[in-house]
Amino acid sequence: MHYLLHLALLSAVLVQEAQGDIIDDPCQIMPQGPPDEHTTIDEQADSMCHNGTFWWNYPRGSIRLHFQHKASPYFRVCLKDYLVGSIFKLYDVTSDMKHAMPSVTPESSNEVCTSAHHYEIIILFEAPKHMLYMGEVAYRIQPIFPI
Ligand SMILES: *[C@@H]1O[C@H](CO)[C@@H](O)[C@H](O)[C@H]1NC(C)=O
Repeated sequence: MHYLLHLALLSAVLVQEAQGDIIDDPCQIMPQGPPDEHTTIDEQADSMCHNGTFWWNYPRGSIRLHFQHKASPYFRVCLKDYLVGSIFKLYDVTSDMKHAMPSVTPESSNEVCTSAHHYEIIILFEAPKHMLYMGEVAYRIQPIFPI
């Protein structure tokens, strides 16, 4: 009985600490995901952020993540694994076509990048079919200077 109470208190503390982190860092995207596997929602990365993470708890359904670069219409977004980020299927859906991207891998040096000329890049994150606790992917936004 005491053990369970202790566990509950410890969980509450951990959740609060996690939420504290989120409030501190606008570049950490932490969506309230869609309620079921058939729904897709949109999320926006803060355009002031050049890097950060996308942290999705209990992922279900799909999230379209919009990236913008204020200064350059030509830019790229590079993703890599942060914590179990390889569970997501990734698609570039910036245009009407849905382009499959490779998943990020646990080797931290392997980045997956996509570029666009539209001031906006939209990446679709598809949750795995089986419910998992979380996945987190690091993103980096970089202007491309046309020659
Ligand atoms: C973002 O960039 C800073 C500076 O280069 C680095 O210290 C930090 O670890 C990066 N954050 C992520 C999530 O990659």
